[in-house]
Amino acid sequence: MEKIVILTGAGISAESGLGTFRDEGGLWAQHRIEDVATPEGFARNPALVHQFYNARRVQAAKAQPNAAHQALARLQKDWPGEVIIVTQNVDSLHEAGGAKHVIYMHGTLAGALCGNCGHCWTSPLEMEVDEPCPVCQQPLVRPDVVWFREMPYFMDEVHDHLAGAALFASIGTSGQVYPAAGFVQQARAVGARTVELNLEPSAGASMFDETHLGSASTVVPRWVDQLLAQGSTQ
Ligand code: APR
Repeated sequence: MEKIVILTGAGISAESGLGTFRDEGGLWAQHRIEDVATPEGFARNPALVHQFYNARRVQAAKAQPNAAHQALARLQKDWPGEVIIVTQNVDSLHEAGGAKHVIYMHGTLAGALCGNCGHCWTSPLEMEVDEPCPVCQQPLVRPDVVWFREMPYFMDEVHDHLAGAALFASIGTSGQVYPAAGFVQQARAVGARTVELNLEPSAGASMFDETHLGSASTVVPRWVDQLLAQGSTQ
């Protein structure tokens, strides 16, 4: 049965109250990427990085999944084939909305990582700068989030899923950050149909066969209803 691969970005969590990055007043208007989302920034000032992620973790813990998250979980449940959700987001709203086996290619706010030995564990709501790693005791704990110039997680698995996709949908992402922004080209190369659902056309809009413009909580449930009603991705 036809396999659907879905990529999501910050726009799907916007209506749950979590900030996006590149919209007016977004996170990258409030913080310098170099300071809070790079290994160099962390080495320079770990306290600032923890402050940035602690604030996002506290906010994400209070957020509720919206109708878009719930609609994708319904698609996973009711679609006769595989539905794979790959997210650039580090919040857990897809799973809170009922989705399964979500692929977190940029890591998660819920994860802590030891910068020394690589041990991962569940992060406290607010991380301390010199919290010792439970395994090697070194005080180099960091959020288990993928920063710029670091390798995203699970790329081999994502490429395998894309290679077998009949439909690729991109939801709530500006299409400006690779490798995620390149997934649509991979999907097209294997003949998959490509759909974009976003508030406004993304940087890669011209590569999509179909576009649904609007707020995710409106356009995603409507698109899922259409897909389930037609029973085919074409
Ligand atoms: N519904 C649908 N789309 C929305 C909504 C909404 N309510 N609000 C905003 N959007 C769209 C915006 O139009 C924009 O195209 O979501 C997109 C958000 O884009 P970005 O802020 O660039 O977020 P994203 O694409 O997820 O960023 C990718 O960049 O900074 C890194 O690691 C970070 O994962 C992030 C990656």
